[in-house]
Amino acid sequence: MIKDIFNAAFGYSPEAEGFTPGRVNLIGEHTDYNGGYVLPTALQLGLTIAIKPRDDQKVRIVSKGYDGRSEALLDAPPTDHWSDYARGAILYAGKTGLLAGGADIAVSSTLPEGAGLSSSAAITVGILKLARDLSGSEMDDVTISQIARRIENEFIGMPCGIMDQMAVAIASPGQALFLDTDALTYDLVDLPEDHHMAVVHSGKYRLLNEGRYKERKEECDVVKSALGRNDICQISQKELDGLSNLDEVFQRRARHCMTEHRRTIGAATAVLENDLPELGRLMIESHNSMRDDFEITLPAIDQLVEDAIKFGALGARMTGGGFGGCIVACVEKTRLDQWKTELLSKHQDAFYVC
Ligand code: GLA
Repeated sequence: MIKDIFNAAFGYSPEAEGFTPGRVNLIGEHTDYNGGYVLPTALQLGLTIAIKPRDDQKVRIVSKGYDGRSEALLDAPPTDHWSDYARGAILYAGKTGLLAGGADIAVSSTLPEGAGLSSSAAITVGILKLARDLSGSEMDDVTISQIARRIENEFIGMPCGIMDQMAVAIASPGQALFLDTDALTYDLVDLPEDHHMAVVHSGKYRLLNEGRYKERKEECDVVKSALGRNDICQISQKELDGLSNLDEVFQRRARHCMTEHRRTIGAATAVLENDLPELGRLMIESHNSMRDDFEITLPAIDQLVEDAIKFGALGARMTGGGFGGCIVACVEKTRLDQWKTELLSKHQDAFYVC
């Protein structure tokens, strides 16, 4: 129990506690900073956080499921440790009027580390929501998500979009969040009950802030200035053709954004209409686009996706920022056990997450 972890570490009880899920993105990758749609869902796995505000400027953080314990002053710079996200959340809760001073925090996680399932968004959103409860503020979840994104962009230095924060703040397991990342408007779409969106870790670990995510973002910036607009996802075929004076790498990056956005709209429609073969087809196309146009997959992950389909998934794709982490596959529930056994016996490094 999170209360016990908190009590054992700090010698008194927390004032608030809560659960925030991780997320898996079903489709719509690298569209959330290019004016497009995304379709993530919340996981059963996630983080439980307990907190008690402090009158001084100290932030103490303990965890079960992550290594280490940290203690630092609120205005100390990030230290490249997972606890930076928690301290960033307290810092920004202060900046946005939700909290004054520091805090003691305990975190317990059921999400595997380095899997790209948004444990960092779950920490920041989870803490901001607890700070909101404690302050009695009526700040809405979209604003909470925007603050959580600022923590990543400004404090951590990770130039991510807003998908992860919105997904963990708003979605529930069994529902997908069909989100317009530009307007920040969304629909919650029920996922089919007879199929499972299985998450399998490739065994290849990734670090988003290691630079390759940033590289893709900067390539998109080149496309944006050539187009004179920021919403690459919304361009027409004619506008894409008009980029022919750019190096072909940039044209492929633009094509991924444009086609991925359309696939995401198609996938949300397919879920609504319970047309799972179509959803599966779009997931496969999405993977191919990430492999060939956006170039963020790895050969081992391409193979895992190929085998996930060969062993009976309707569709499968790498999910998240790229260069490692998990795949997501749409599998009929009655076939799930056999599918899992066959896939994992061929891929010894991979493991089933949920
Ligand atoms: C990471 C980022 C998100 C999004 C995805 C790619 O998860 O945090 O904002 O860009 O990668 O779709």
